[in-house]
Amino acid sequence: MCKLNNNDCKLLWFIILVLLFDHLTSESESLEFACKPPRHSTYPFCNTSLTISVRAQSLISLLTLSEKLQRLTTNSSSIPRLGIPPYQWRNHALHGVAATTVASATSFPQVILTAASFNRTLWYLIGSAIGVEGRALYNAGLAGLTFWSPNVNVFRDPRWGRGQETPGEDPMVSSAYASEFVRGLQGGPHHHGLFVSACCKHFTAYDLDKWANFTKYNFNALVTQQDLEDTYLPPFRSCIQQGGASCLMCSFNQVNGVPACANEDLLGLARTKWGFQGYITSDCDAVATVYEYHKYAKSAEDAVADVLRAGVDINCGTYMLRHTQTAIKQGKVKEEELDRALFNLFSVQLRLGMFDGDPRKGQFGKLGPWNVCSTEHRTLALEAARQGIVLLKNENKILPLDRDFITSLAVIGPMATETKLGGDYSGIGCSSRSIYEELQEFTKGFLSISYASGCHDIACQSVEGFNEAIETAKEADYVIIVAGIDTTQEGEDLDRDSLVLPGEQMALISAIADASKRPVILVLTGGGPLDVLSADRNPLISSILWVGYPGEAGAKALAEIIFGLVNPAGRLPMTWYPESFTNVPMSDMNMRADPSRGYPGRTYRFYTGTRIYGFGHGLSYSAFSYKFLSSSPTKISLHKSLKAERLEGVDEVLVDDMQDCSKLRFGMQVSVMNLGDLDGRHVVMLFSRWPKVLQGSPTTQLVGFSSVHTVSYESIETSILVDPCQHLSLAHESGKRILPLGSYTFSVRDTHHTLSLQIY
Ligand SMILES: *[C@@H]1O[C@H](CO)[C@@H](O)[C@H](O)[C@H]1NC(C)=O
Ligand SMILES: *[C@@H]1O[C@H](CO)[C@@H](O)[C@H](O)[C@H]1NC(C)=O
Ligand SMILES: *[C@@H]1O[C@H](CO)[C@@H](O)[C@H](O)[C@H]1NC(C)=O
Ligand SMILES: *[C@@H]1O[C@H](CO)[C@@H](O)[C@H](O)[C@H]1NC(C)=O
Repeated sequence: MCKLNNNDCKLLWFIILVLLFDHLTSESESLEFACKPPRHSTYPFCNTSLTISVRAQSLISLLTLSEKLQRLTTNSSSIPRLGIPPYQWRNHALHGVAATTVASATSFPQVILTAASFNRTLWYLIGSAIGVEGRALYNAGLAGLTFWSPNVNVFRDPRWGRGQETPGEDPMVSSAYASEFVRGLQGGPHHHGLFVSACCKHFTAYDLDKWANFTKYNFNALVTQQDLEDTYLPPFRSCIQQGGASCLMCSFNQVNGVPACANEDLLGLARTKWGFQGYITSDCDAVATVYEYHKYAKSAEDAVADVLRAGVDINCGTYMLRHTQTAIKQGKVKEEELDRALFNLFSVQLRLGMFDGDPRKGQFGKLGPWNVCSTEHRTLALEAARQGIVLLKNENKILPLDRDFITSLAVIGPMATETKLGGDYSGIGCSSRSIYEELQEFTKGFLSISYASGCHDIACQSVEGFNEAIETAKEADYVIIVAGIDTTQEGEDLDRDSLVLPGEQMALISAIADASKRPVILVLTGGGPLDVLSADRNPLISSILWVGYPGEAGAKALAEIIFGLVNPAGRLPMTWYPESFTNVPMSDMNMRADPSRGYPGRTYRFYTGTRIYGFGHGLSYSAFSYKFLSSSPTKISLHKSLKAERLEGVDEVLVDDMQDCSKLRFGMQVSVMNLGDLDGRHVVMLFSRWPKVLQGSPTTQLVGFSSVHTVSYESIETSILVDPCQHLSLAHESGKRILPLGSYTFSVRDTHHTLSLQIY
């Protein structure tokens, strides 16, 4: 035994202690964080007893002008004398943490498919799971805490390459998604400061990357006040007001002649009217474009001055880094403007606890890499794909396949062996299996399965592989064709020119359908709508499923749906237009149809043309019937909520003339009956029509939705909350909201209910 009074032993202990200390310090040395003891923890900005605002001001007061200037880029450098490490503001987590430094993180379905679940709880939980993984990776020095998600631009044009990143075309659905996702991401139940930071992007009227002569860098979006009020602003308002987002990103494009990042009206609206608290970042290089592309500013310095004045706090890119000093020298920018920007930036970092010392000792310090790809999160990714996948067609109930009656299956198509099923801004998932691999695994022991790609790749420029695919299909009892698009066809800076399947894909589908023993099952991938009219009409194609980009567990969810373990319930969050829609200029931002110039309008609310599949379309293996319950109101009086004394003979009231609208909220009670043999989730979508058609009013409008679990041959009741001022009001041409009086028709599919809105 080693006794402590023995000198050799003392030496041994000393060595052990030194080694141990060395090990501990080197470990904390490797993790960079601000306010590190002992040297850098005594500044007032590190003192957690002080308010965020006092701490932020104190930090700003310690900085030299040149140090302040260094803060104006999202790849910000360190301030060694204050012990502040460099920080990368730009992190992505649209559908899972997408960090390049990380081996893997849970990869949820791309947002457009998650939106198709119409399940608010799911949206919240995904945000929350991503937040946990983000914080866990930050604690290990592997990610930042400021995520530039969600993308809540309305999916206005089916060609848009980034529509996949959004929750679809309906401003109400986008608003609901924004608020759930952001609350989940930023820390839902924690409530102390910010768990991680979410960013509402891209503010606003951005949804064109490249079309004809236009790119997102030079595009001037001409938007009416009416469209602004009821399409382009609501998702952002909700993201900020209901979600409490701590970041807003201004977009590249101009809105009515003013670049979004130099748009004082827009950014001011968010800060003052919506009460936005957080930092405003430019999209990457969207300060440079103010001068270089839009020629809105006369010089680089003017561009910097313009965006700072409008309310931008930080620039993704180096433009402000390079030009702000000269702008100050030229008297175009005042140091106080930098202080304001820094205040917003530091406040968010302080709320995130980034100046509270070692993150592993902070309130979220217990989270670490073991919280990434946890069983819980991976199950949620699977659940999201199960809930999102949409059954578009199912003639003669070919699906679900009955495993007891099938002996062989052929899988055809180039997408079937793809293992990256995440879409734009994907990280590396915890696991990844292609649709073919998953079907092999799933059917092991009960049927034989074969594969042929048919086309070399998604672009499918050649018919060389057709014969092999046809032969493979001929042999099988059932055939599943996996076709569609991927990120080689749509994405950032990549809008489509066409809505039909690429290359020879449709020819392959038809050839396989012709050759197969039975009608085939078609699985479509990708985020953008497809004109698959001929497949929909083809009796040899019995079933069509849309899987979007279903994420790391998407292939499994698809297999479960095909074999009836899961009853599909996803509904399309966007209209599927015919190819002829590509004649409409993508640059036309008008939502409303204009017959005088042959303009068909956009989205289910205004589009007057034919559609392949409508917004909200989605089948189940069950049928459903609905009943409005007698407890649903048939009459609502606005009298007590009107500011004006007495209004006689009016047809409508201004929402601004109402007070305390929340008092008028009511629940629409609907009973849903599952008329099938399978239990399953079902989405009840409540639409309304207005008493009369006013100038520019939508034909119909989703006012609420509810996701319910239904049991075979049983009914269940659900209540959908309606806030008249929010859900029944219309944007007037002036941009003001009006609430028409009279009789509204509510419907859930073919079941109707009328409600009268009146003053007395
Ligand atoms: C932190 O601020 C509180 C409140 O002003 C003060 O009482 C305390 O002494 C400060 N702590 C340090 C370490 O400076
Ligand atoms: C961020 O800045 C550092 C140091 O200036 C540089 O080495 C690095 O490449 C930059 N990263 C990005 C993404 O711009
Ligand atoms: C694109 O630019 C060309 C040449 O400047 C012009 O002739 C054409 O009209 C433009 N097209 C559109 C759609 O604006
Ligand atoms: C909505 O999603 C959550 C999370 O996956 C799930 O627990 C819940 O059952 C879903 N709602 C319905 C009605 O299925």
